[in-house]
Amino acid sequence: MVTAMELRSFKVRAADDHVRVVTGDTSGDSGTDLLGAHAQAVISAAAPLFEELSARVGAELRALSYNGDDDALRVAPTPGSTFDPSALTIRGEDLAPHVPALKTIARAILGELRAMAGDSRGPAPSGDRKEDATTEDGSKDWEALYRRGFTGWELSRPAPPLASYFEASPPAGSRTLIVGCGRGNEARLLAGLGAKVTAIDIAPTAIEQAKAIASPHPIEYREADVFKLRGEPPAFDLVIEHTCFCAIDPARRDDFVAAVADALVPGGALVGLFFAHGREGGPPFTVTEEELRARFSPAFEIEHLAVAGNSVITRRGDELLARFVRR
Ligand SMILES: C[S@@+](CC[C@H](N)C(=O)[O-])C[C@H]1O[C@@H](n2cnc3c(N)ncnc32)[C@H](O)[C@@H]1O
Repeated sequence: MVTAMELRSFKVRAADDHVRVVTGDTSGDSGTDLLGAHAQAVISAAAPLFEELSARVGAELRALSYNGDDDALRVAPTPGSTFDPSALTIRGEDLAPHVPALKTIARAILGELRAMAGDSRGPAPSGDRKEDATTEDGSKDWEALYRRGFTGWELSRPAPPLASYFEASPPAGSRTLIVGCGRGNEARLLAGLGAKVTAIDIAPTAIEQAKAIASPHPIEYREADVFKLRGEPPAFDLVIEHTCFCAIDPARRDDFVAAVADALVPGGALVGLFFAHGREGGPPFTVTEEELRARFSPAFEIEHLAVAGNSVITRRGDELLARFVRR
C-alpha cells in the first residue's frame, strides 16, 4: 500500500460522531468515513474551533467542513437554530486566524487514517508520516521507505506555492535540476512549463516510480546523490528544492548549499520551498529564515524569502518560498 496522501477536504459532524475525509494520491481522490473512536478523536481536536465559531454566531454549531479546492471553512445548520449557516463561509484573509485550529484537526485526521491503516506509530509532529527505516549510519533509509510505500510526505501533485510561482513566470528553456525529486511531481510541472528537466533522487525506487508516471514532456530522471554535485562543472540555470533540504542531516546543510551552488551557472537561481515547521527532531528537520539567509548568502543573493501564501492546509504558514540567485 502506498501512503502518499494529501488531505483535500474534511467534514466533522459532532452530532452523530462522523467524520468524512477526502484524500488524494497518485491514483486520484478517494473518500473515507471515520467512525467510533476514530471520529471521536477528531471531534475532540475540533472542539476548540466548534466553541469559537458557536460563540461567534450565538448558536451551538455541531458540524463544520474544510474544502481545499476553494480553501474555505463552512459550518452546517444546527437543528432548532435561527442562524443561517450560508452566512458563515470563511475564506481568504478571514481564514488565517482559524488555520492553527484547522491544522490541529487535519493532523488528527491523518493520525486516525494511519491508525486505521494499521500503523500504530501515529502522526509525526509535522503531520507527515514518521517512519523508522534507517541505514546503518543512522540516517533515513529513503529507499526502504519507497519500497514499503511509506511516503506520507508526498502531495501527489506539485506543491501549490511552487506551482503558482512557476505558472506566473514559466521557466521555458531553462536547464533545470530538481533535487530529491521523489515521484517527480515538480519535475512534471516544470517540464510541462517548457523547462529542460533533470530530476535526481538517491532512492532508486523513487526514480523507478517517477519514470512510471506518464509525462507528455521529456524528463531526465537520474538516481544520484545531491552531495555528489560538489565540484561538478555548473550545468543548470535553475535548481528546484522541495522537502529535500529538510530531509538531509542538518549537519550537512553547508554541503547542500555548496552542492547547489556548484550546480548553478552564475546568475542561475535556486527556487525552493523550505519547511520551517519549528518543531524538534526530524526528518523533516525545520529551518528558520535567519538560518537560510546565513547559509545561502555567501554564494547567493537572497532575492525573495517569505512565508508562502498558498501552502496545503497541513503546512500552511510553515513553508518559506525562496529565490536565491547564484553570485
Ligand atoms: C521528504 S522526501 C521529498 C520528495 C519530493 N521532493 C516530494 O516532495 O514528494 C525527500 C526526498 O529526498 C531524497 N533524498 C534524500 N537524501 C538525498 C540525497 N542525498 N540526494 C538526493 N536525494 C535525496 C529522498 O530519497 C526523498 O525522495
